[in-house]
Amino acid sequence: MKVISTIRELRAALGPHRLLGRTIGFVPTMGYLHEGHLTLARHARRDTDIVVASIFVNPLQFGPGEDYEAYPRDVDRDRAMLESVGTDYLFSPPVREMYPTRPDTYVDVPHLGSMLEGAVRPDHFRGVATVVTKLFNIVQPTRAYFGEKDYQQVMVIRRMVSDLSMPVEIVPVPTVRDEDGVALSSRNVYLTPEERRAAVRLNRALALARSLVDEGIASPAALERRLRDYICEEPLAGIDLVAIRDADTLEDPGDAFPDRILVLLFVRFGKARLLDQVVIENRKAEG
Ligand code: PAF
Repeated sequence: MKVISTIRELRAALGPHRLLGRTIGFVPTMGYLHEGHLTLARHARRDTDIVVASIFVNPLQFGPGEDYEAYPRDVDRDRAMLESVGTDYLFSPPVREMYPTRPDTYVDVPHLGSMLEGAVRPDHFRGVATVVTKLFNIVQPTRAYFGEKDYQQVMVIRRMVSDLSMPVEIVPVPTVRDEDGVALSSRNVYLTPEERRAAVRLNRALALARSLVDEGIASPAALERRLRDYICEEPLAGIDLVAIRDADTLEDPGDAFPDRILVLLFVRFGKARLLDQVVIENRKAEG
């Protein structure tokens, strides 16, 4: 695996592959990798000729007072992990390479990007859309792989790619979980052992949501109330968001469940803000 830190060098390395008609699979990350990221890279390895991963902790997507400085970093460990799954190139630029000056151009997806997590973290998705556009311009991938855990991020990027006719296929990959059901996330490292045990409640809340829908709970509002109550029983959990949405549009479904129900949780445990989600097929809608 070749490790590259400048845009010019990466373009020079990928140009000949493109000329030969090779497909490029891209896995953008912020590093401190886990099995979820490696699963993305394995999908890319299976589907495409050349696999490029990036590690860049993007300052634009962190708000004031968020964990930009503290975000965990370990490039040597990440490098070995990416190599073990057959990554061809790792692009790991310093901030001055990506943003030599404070950018005056942003990519914004204001409707999808300002709801849900975007309401809790203003400008977060603008930072994501801007850096992903830059990375797509640099790598020019055939396909790019993103974890479904960040469901809203996938929706925002898909919309951006469609609106701006970007020639890349977005491939969402299912969430990878630990044995106890906790979704893998680089931010799990912030959890104390006690908080880690408490975080199991998120995945259990999603299982509860599924059974309540199957049992015919009356409305999205009733489901949201039950999930809030269930999560609040855990004293270490601080709810930022419990949302029931239409999984295809992210819109509030009002009084009736949509065909595909997104349950999205954004909950604090100590210093960690954890995201989790499930999409539930509404069997009633099928019948
Ligand atoms: O999901 C992430 O790790 C980041 O938001 C991404 C897509 C790499 C952009 O910085």
